[in-house]
Amino acid sequence: MKHSVKELQVKGKKVIVRVDFNVPFKDDGSIRDDNRIVAALPTINELINKGARVILMSHLGKIDFKKEPEEIEKAKKKNSLASVAKRLSELLKQEVIFSSVTRGEELESKVAALKDGQVLLMQNSRYEKGESKNDPALSEYWASLGDAYVMDAFGSAHRAHCTTVGIPEFMKKEGKPVAYGYLVEKEIHALGRCVNPQENERPYIAILGGFKVSSKIQVIDALLKKCDNVLICGAMAYTFFRAQGYKTGNSFVEEDQLEYAKQCLNSGKIVLPVQTVVANSFDNPTDVKTVNVYDLPDGMEGMDIGPNTLDVFEGYIKNAKTIFWNGPAGVFEKEGFQAGTLGICKAIAANKGAFSVVGGGDSAAAVKQFGYSNEFSHVSTGGGASLEMIQFDGQLPGIVVLED
Ligand code: 3PG
Repeated sequence: MKHSVKELQVKGKKVIVRVDFNVPFKDDGSIRDDNRIVAALPTINELINKGARVILMSHLGKIDFKKEPEEIEKAKKKNSLASVAKRLSELLKQEVIFSSVTRGEELESKVAALKDGQVLLMQNSRYEKGESKNDPALSEYWASLGDAYVMDAFGSAHRAHCTTVGIPEFMKKEGKPVAYGYLVEKEIHALGRCVNPQENERPYIAILGGFKVSSKIQVIDALLKKCDNVLICGAMAYTFFRAQGYKTGNSFVEEDQLEYAKQCLNSGKIVLPVQTVVANSFDNPTDVKTVNVYDLPDGMEGMDIGPNTLDVFEGYIKNAKTIFWNGPAGVFEKEGFQAGTLGICKAIAANKGAFSVVGGGDSAAAVKQFGYSNEFSHVSTGGGASLEMIQFDGQLPGIVVLED
C-alpha cells in the first residue's frame, strides 16, 4: 500500500520532498518555463500548512564527472538551483532558504535551524557524483536529515537515484513514513488511463514524434501492443520512410533502426505521414516545398508534416476515445514549420469526448506555446517518465519504492 502526503502527521517534523525543478533556462540565465515549480506547489503548501519543516531536493541538468575539473565546475555553475529558489519564494510568497551545498556544515546547520512551516531548497543533487548511482552512503546521509519523505518529482520517477529511491529505502528501514505528493498522484491517475484503457475507452491512439526512433524503441513496442493505431511524425518518420525504400534527402535517418522500423510496419498499426514539408537547410531555410513522402527531393530535409498528412491524422484523432501524444510533428520552434504540431493540438482539442494526454518535454512546450494547455485532459510534467510509465505498465522505480 502507498500513502498520500495528505495522511502525514508532520507538525514540527523535517520532511524531505523530492521535486523535479529541472526547468528550462533562457540564454540570459532566466527561467524560460516555471511550470514544474508551479506543479509542485500544492504538495509544498500542504506541508507548510501542516507545520512541517520542508527540505526540498531536486536535480537540474546533467553533470559529466568524466570531464576535466574546470569543465565540471562550469557545469555546476550553469546548473545551480539558486535562481529556482528565488522563483519558488515568489510563488510561495515566503522566504525559501537556500543551501548552496549538498552536504556538510552549511546544509546541516540550515536544516537544524528550520522552524515549523519554513522551506529550504538544497543545491542540485547532481552536484554529488553518487546521486545518479544511487550510492548507499549518500542516500543514508541525506535520509538522516529528515523524519519523513515525500515523492513529488514525477518527471524523475523513472530514475533509480539516491533522491528518488535510495532515501525512501533508508527511511522505510528506519520506520520513517514515506508518501507520494499531489503531482505524482495526478500524473499516475492520468497516465494510468493510457497504460491499459478499458474497451469503452477505445479506439486508443498514440501520436509519436520527435527526433530518434532508437530512444523510443521500447515504447513503440509497448504502444503497438496497447494501441489501436500509432501515428508517427517528426524526424523519426524518416527512418520509417527509408525502411519502405523511399529517398529521404538530407533528413535524419537512423540506419541501424531500419530493420526494427520494418518490423513495426508489419504490425499494420503504424500510420505514417503521406506528405511532408521540406527545406534546403535546417538553420537557414530559403527554399521550402510541400511534397509527397515518396517524392522527397535530393538535398532537402524534412521539417514538418504536410496538410494532407494532417487530414489523415485528423481522421484518427476524431474517432479516438483515448489519445497519448509525445513528440512534436515538426520543427515547431521555427516559424513556417508549426502547422503540423498546431494542427494536432487543434484536432485533439476539437475531440471533446476523448481522454487526451500529452507527454512532457517538447510536445508539452508546444502545447503551451500555442495556448492549448487547457484543452487536454492532462499535460504531463514528465518527458521520459511519461513514456516509461506506459512502457513499464506504471511500474517506475520512484513510485514502486513508496509501497509499504
Ligand atoms: C526530465 O527533464 O525529463 C526529468 O527532469 C529527468 O531528467 P534526466 O533525464 O536528466 O534524468
